[in-house]
Amino acid sequence: MKSQLIEKMEKLMNSCQFVESNYDCSKCRDFGYTFQLDSNNHEVAVPCQCLSKKQSLEKLKKCGLTEVFKKKTFATYVCEKPYQAKAKHKAFKFCDNFALTNSSLLLCGSPGAGKTHLGIASMLKLINDNVSCRYVEYNNMIMSLKQSVMDEENFIREMDKYINPRVLFIDDFLKGKTTPTDINYIYRIVNSRYLKSKPLIISSEKTIEDILGWDEAIGSRLVEMAGENIINFDKNTSNYRLRKNMQN
Ligand SMILES: Nc1ncnc2c1ncn2[C@@H]1O[C@H](COP(=O)(O)OP(=O)(O)O)[C@@H](O)[C@H]1O
Ligand SMILES: [Mg+2]
Ligand SMILES: [Zn+2]
Repeated sequence: MKSQLIEKMEKLMNSCQFVESNYDCSKCRDFGYTFQLDSNNHEVAVPCQCLSKKQSLEKLKKCGLTEVFKKKTFATYVCEKPYQAKAKHKAFKFCDNFALTNSSLLLCGSPGAGKTHLGIASMLKLINDNVSCRYVEYNNMIMSLKQSVMDEENFIREMDKYINPRVLFIDDFLKGKTTPTDINYIYRIVNSRYLKSKPLIISSEKTIEDILGWDEAIGSRLVEMAGENIINFDKNTSNYRLRKNMQN
């Protein structure tokens, strides 16, 4: 009789373990919160440790990056040359200090230097630290604004996509010719973000001097927002896209 009882209990316990293992987090059973009693003996919801991880994953889904781009991490950025190590270190430091500085990051210079790669790596690290980030290609951003300009409500909604995100990565900034209308859009976006202390990650083939010379009001705001987080790849930088052809 006793052994039957033990057997029954063991079965029951095993089935409980099975149910527990159906959850990613057994502590809160994927609810995101656990309940504790406060000093007045009232039950209060306390965020579980798994919650910020879950929120990061949600942020990753909404950040605008394709699956290919999600592989452009610090881990996959190879440092064969000193300038690459220096750039990687600087981008990593930008992420590490982000919670304190709330700074922007500017990646400027030669094509194929790894600007987009490091910008995305930084963005992915910030998302992992539960900071919302949004990726947009400069030309797509300008085109979408131009397409929505006839309908004011639509235009405001479109503008909000670039003004509201906590961090916005504009890739290939100032690529191609810019018209006075483009400058007006860019100024509104940069200035709104500047006034709201909302950082930008920017990659551009233009140098800081080019950007300042092109429009000082926009350039000087970007420089101020970035502080020491300006990475410049000079003309001697090799194009990573062509490295195999060059070695042969
Ligand atoms: N140091 C590096 N390690 C690994 N891959 C790199 C490195 N630098 C560039 N790449 C890769 O080379 C390609 C071009 O780099 P990318 O970041 O797009 O250049 P840029 O934006 O400066 O024009 C991308 O596929 C990128 O992942
Ligand atoms: Mg690029
Ligand atoms: Zn949990």
